[in-house]
Amino acid sequence: MSRAAHSVTPLGTPRDDAARRHLWGHFTRQSTWDREVPTIVRGEGHHIWDDTGHRLIDGLSGLFVVQLGHGRTELADVARAQATELAFFPLWSYAHPNAIDLAERLAQHAPGDLNRVFFTTGGGEAVETAWKLAKQYWKLQGQPAKYKVISRAIAYHGTTQGALSITGIPGMKAPFEPLVPGAHKAANTNIYRGPADLRNDPKAFGRWAADRIEEAIVLEGPETVAAVFLEPVQNSGGCFPAPPGYFERVREICDTYDVLLVSDEVICAFGRIGEIFACNDLGYVPDMITCAKGMTSGYSPIGALIASDRLFEPFSKGSTTFYHGYTFGGHPVSAAVALANLAIFERERITDHVHQNAPVFRRTLEKLYDLPIVGDVRGEGYFYGIELVKDKTTRETFDDDESERLLRGFLSKALFDAGLYCRADDRGDPVIQLAPPLTCGPAEFDEIEQILRGVLSEAWAHL
Ligand SMILES: Cc1ncc(COP(=O)(O)O)c(C=O)c1O
Repeated sequence: MSRAAHSVTPLGTPRDDAARRHLWGHFTRQSTWDREVPTIVRGEGHHIWDDTGHRLIDGLSGLFVVQLGHGRTELADVARAQATELAFFPLWSYAHPNAIDLAERLAQHAPGDLNRVFFTTGGGEAVETAWKLAKQYWKLQGQPAKYKVISRAIAYHGTTQGALSITGIPGMKAPFEPLVPGAHKAANTNIYRGPADLRNDPKAFGRWAADRIEEAIVLEGPETVAAVFLEPVQNSGGCFPAPPGYFERVREICDTYDVLLVSDEVICAFGRIGEIFACNDLGYVPDMITCAKGMTSGYSPIGALIASDRLFEPFSKGSTTFYHGYTFGGHPVSAAVALANLAIFERERITDHVHQNAPVFRRTLEKLYDLPIVGDVRGEGYFYGIELVKDKTTRETFDDDESERLLRGFLSKALFDAGLYCRADDRGDPVIQLAPPLTCGPAEFDEIEQILRGVLSEAWAHL
């Protein structure tokens, strides 16, 4: 029984009862709380503890967020100092020093002429902002019909109505239809399930996948398409990296049809793939970057849209205004923490550490290929997906019932009990996702691999 069953709220209610009665979990099948409310109470370094004292390695950095690990008092101290000096002021017609300094810092890391930063409170708002900016930009260019967006199948871009329209997961969208019109989908870069004749030729597959984006633009009519939204490594579906040449070709396509390229780096930025911005790892220059999660390592919420000088230019003069904003966007405390977070990145050479250790992470996870249930190990940097299959040779996947039994019925709890917090996901084919804090090294990779080995062997025996 969890300690929440024994502890009480300030109003005297057993805490797990209060959770059941009042707390609405995000993306949570609420009935699972009837049994138990998993309650995490503490984090230190690479580990977290639940309310029974059970210790787990944080294999997902919370939710792709805690880049520098838990319990960094330095970041907490910065938050406290800023809240004492100026707890809040909006960026509506006014500025504050941390927002200015952070905007300059982000622009310094961003490639090309991506110099203009619009702060939000999270990733979905950054995506929403990017689509709105694209629409207004094209109107200001005298092309009001350019409002549509192309994104990829199974990709997740957020939950607000615009960002959800860009999201490519049908089951997640259906309850909220009709959504924002004009959001169209193209194939993603899942080579493991790509056309059979291209599976062993990443370059040809990359060309094929990029050409699907061109096809979507042409089908919709280039004069109606505002932007393409792509993650450097697609999260949903289980970490699909970009094949060689893919982004080069996508950039070429966007230039040919005068379509903006948005690099959605809500997960991939801030060292997750290697560099502060993953487009720099992959060698392309987008027109906009959306980012959030790792910017403060989770010590305070913030997100941002970073736009090119070209996109900002029409807003730089006269009465032209981007009528868009969020009360808490660029919050002074969050901006201060983000600056301190980036200072630690530099001091501790975090991006070098990721570059050096990412191949070790890959090799460690690839050891799991000797298990019959492991079909594919894929990803980049500190961001990996392990696809589970019924038959390695044929790549046969699990049906919905089996997937339900495997992921929800067994794996999620078994991994938790064995001391690994990570994600068992079936938004595409069943995968386990790993994105540990960027300060992890070979010892933590081994710990993760050992736990996975035990639990996945047991899962196979269960089938
Ligand atoms: C690529 C991508 N875009 C947008 C979002 C939405 O971010 P948020 O949950 O901060 O709104 C996410 C969240 O996981 C994401 O992975």
